[in-house]
Amino acid sequence: MTETANATSIEPLFQPLTLRSATLANRIVMAPMTREFSPNGVPGEDVARYYAKRAATGVGLIITEGVGVDHPASVDKTGVPLLHGEASLAGWRRVVDDVHAAGGLIFPQLWHQGIVRDPSTSAHPDAPGVRPSGIWGPEGGTVSLEPEFIEFLRPVSRPATDEEIQDVIDGFARSAANAAKIGFDGIAIHGGHGYILDAFLWGKTNLRDDKWGGDHIGRTRFAVEVVKAIRAVIPDTLPIIYRFSQWKLQDYRAELAHTPKELEEILTPIAQAGVDAFDGSQRYFNTPVFEGSDLNLAGWARKVTGLPSMTVGGVGLNKGFGASTVKRTDSDSVNNLGLLMARFERGEFDLVGVGRSLLNDPDWIYKARAGEPFEVFDPANLRRLT
Ligand SMILES: Cc1cc2nc3c(=O)[nH]c(=O)nc-3n(C[C@H](O)[C@H](O)[C@H](O)COP(=O)(O)O)c2cc1C
Repeated sequence: MTETANATSIEPLFQPLTLRSATLANRIVMAPMTREFSPNGVPGEDVARYYAKRAATGVGLIITEGVGVDHPASVDKTGVPLLHGEASLAGWRRVVDDVHAAGGLIFPQLWHQGIVRDPSTSAHPDAPGVRPSGIWGPEGGTVSLEPEFIEFLRPVSRPATDEEIQDVIDGFARSAANAAKIGFDGIAIHGGHGYILDAFLWGKTNLRDDKWGGDHIGRTRFAVEVVKAIRAVIPDTLPIIYRFSQWKLQDYRAELAHTPKELEEILTPIAQAGVDAFDGSQRYFNTPVFEGSDLNLAGWARKVTGLPSMTVGGVGLNKGFGASTVKRTDSDSVNNLGLLMARFERGEFDLVGVGRSLLNDPDWIYKARAGEPFEVFDPANLRRLT
């Protein structure tokens, strides 16, 4: 056990929030975390047990690990779950049913890796990767990707054609329709971290001057089309939560938006396409984004769009994700809930995403609520499905 200093009450998080027809019992959300425990894209009983266990401890919403959308170049590991094909859908149906039986809500996180994908480890090694401008990103960024992987990503390829781009959009829509059919409570879109949606948004990876590019507003088109395509195939009752980030795998110090105005101009068309809440992904929730204000990314998303938002990054831990990837970690559990609650109580954001703390200890939420010491953080728990 690790020491907790000044246990803070997190009771204010235990109030409901309604997004369309989904009423979250409280404001704690399990953050999306890739696990690679779904052989050939099929989540099994162990995956259902893993999610149902978190639902049973009272997590207000589970956002699943990134799920490969129905496109051959979506993901690069065969253990990442898919949301198409009979076996994958049957697997997810069991997950959804078990989470519901445990009293929880669950959204799948729809994911297409875009640029950051290694075809050689994927089920479709011959499928060409989809890159807005053929480039992987700027040189010299702050990264924790392995140097060999960067060497592999570096060669410039052909920019995606209109037809290829449309195929990806259609893949998002098909997977979303499948999710709705098997009873998921909403849809989460992975629009951050340098993957495909972010790669279109970011000026360093999207140099196009056609309808998919241009200035920061023009670059939102792909995201807008993805959200619209999803909205068109799911019932109106299902909410959509959209993750975005300043940081990228290509550069932790990247900036998607340089000013609040730019952020507003990026998020507004995406919101208008049919998003109900934004997930402002940061490596550490207590880091300000723009000079002259200590608002975090979720705080800014809420301020510029008026929509509910979720913060994430380092809740219950002393270092952010990235400093502690699956392979390398030097984080430790820490009770930083005072910092979190001060922000929540001033209305900065509406939801709190918890990632590694919930892998480290499925019962984390009880301890956080009771003010009990957290378990010592064991990075091996990031590699186990318990
Ligand atoms: C093992 C692991 C896998 C992750 N996979 C995903 C993912 O599939 N999609 C995503 O958007 N973020 C992913 N993340 C990032 C988390 O959602 C979260 O934003 C990050 O871990 C910071 O939260 P934390 O400090 O509470 O862990 C992953 C993080 C970890 C530790």
